[in-house]
Amino acid sequence: MGERPGDVALAEEAHQCGAVEHGHGADAVGLEHPRRLPDGGGRADADERAVPVVGRPLDGVQLRVHGDLRSATVTRPWTDRTVDGSRRTGPEVPIGSTTTPGTVPGVERGRVRSRWEVPTPALLVDLDVLEANLARAAALVAEGGVTLRPHVKTHKCAAIARLQLEAGAAGLCVAKLGEAEALLAAGVRPPEGFLLTTPVHGRLRDRLAALATPSRAALRDRLAALGAGPGSGMSVVVDHPEQVESLRGVSGGAPVRVLVDLDVGLHRTGVVGPERAAELARLVASTPGLAFGGVQAYGGQWQHIDDPDVRRDAVGKGMAVVADAVDAIEAEGLEVGVRSGGGTGTLAADLELGVLDELQLGSYALMDREYRDALGRDPDLGDGGDWGQALWVQSTVVSANHEGFVTVDAGLKAFATDAGEPVWPAGGGRYAFFGDEHGLLTVSEHRPLRLGDRVELVPPHCDPTVDRYDVIHLVRGDEVVDTVAVDARGRSQ
Ligand SMILES: Cc1ncc(COP(=O)(O)O)c(C=O)c1O
Repeated sequence: MGERPGDVALAEEAHQCGAVEHGHGADAVGLEHPRRLPDGGGRADADERAVPVVGRPLDGVQLRVHGDLRSATVTRPWTDRTVDGSRRTGPEVPIGSTTTPGTVPGVERGRVRSRWEVPTPALLVDLDVLEANLARAAALVAEGGVTLRPHVKTHKCAAIARLQLEAGAAGLCVAKLGEAEALLAAGVRPPEGFLLTTPVHGRLRDRLAALATPSRAALRDRLAALGAGPGSGMSVVVDHPEQVESLRGVSGGAPVRVLVDLDVGLHRTGVVGPERAAELARLVASTPGLAFGGVQAYGGQWQHIDDPDVRRDAVGKGMAVVADAVDAIEAEGLEVGVRSGGGTGTLAADLELGVLDELQLGSYALMDREYRDALGRDPDLGDGGDWGQALWVQSTVVSANHEGFVTVDAGLKAFATDAGEPVWPAGGGRYAFFGDEHGLLTVSEHRPLRLGDRVELVPPHCDPTVDRYDVIHLVRGDEVVDTVAVDARGRSQ
């Protein structure tokens, strides 16, 4: 059977990794994909293509768009070069729509292909597992009588944000204004808007000088452009009077909802003590263009405590701080509309303690090795604290010249490196960073790996790993059902 145009990228990659003679056909892989930790050691010995191709599209080829720009089909003529050097060209073939929100220029959409054919290193999200995580969170918060405002800093991806909204979230959290801008540009419109969880000024002591009128005005303009205010739903947090001042008059119309960020022991952001919380709330309430909306309290230091009792006690002490602050603010005659905070690790404790009424879970959607290690020790819960591993980095064996280990094409650039090494659950071999572009994977005779084989690894830390990739391949079982942009990648401003 002749090669298909869609094989070009695959063939190119196979060539790069020296695996042309193996191919990577889906049908040849024969892997099972159990829900949590699918077999990552896929390899292909045979392929339906009689002649392996190592070509690329014709240089300077023009993409043609058919239809109106909302539902366009894009076609292109194609050419491939076979390994014997001959060239083949073919007619125009559809390569999908490029105008859907979230579409990545140059990335084909709408085609079904094997998960084991993506160019590696690649970021994959298992949709079945993701959906199960979203459904579980929705059920737990509903049962606890609180609302969920998922944090999109974990995935930075409009397609996943949409799934979170479909699963019942009314609002979303962002860590930076740029994330909200990117998701808005991709068409994400949460009914209850975005909450910017990082104090909006951000640059207190060292940058006070820079907070002169121009930059303050620029910040105001950005918020105004996002349609700050209820309705558009851009809410912000503050932890200092200077920040409140910088937002004075930010909205000529509906006031911007502002939460007071409380320090619950992490000391990263947040006001210290109930008196300061009450003072700041009063200031917000009396500043034109702003509306006091409640408090935020996030304890990052508790999230990965692996003993559930110790974790719960720590959260309990922090929630006492929140309760004191709420009392002090209410004593000023102000209404605390929302108590927002919490993460994946503290979900059970937050629901039990009942102080927070809006939860900002982020990692629960994708999960990572660090969280699996911490929550997996809870005797009442299953693997990973009952959250499935949806996020994977797929990598290819690019060198296999030694006993006991092979080299894969995912190294320091493929993972965030703050939280130790990735793991390879399917094979049991140990991964070690082997330079910018490479990783070392130990193998045993029971689990041999050959050149061109694919493995899927659990990233140590999900958020900063995702931020290293332009696209996520959304997979269901063996199939890539879509390739979507990491829309807010690099939007850290
Ligand atoms: C303010 C805030 N809220 C929520 C989250 C989400 O936490 P997790 O990823 O642990 O669920 C984070 C993560 O860093 C955060 O900084």
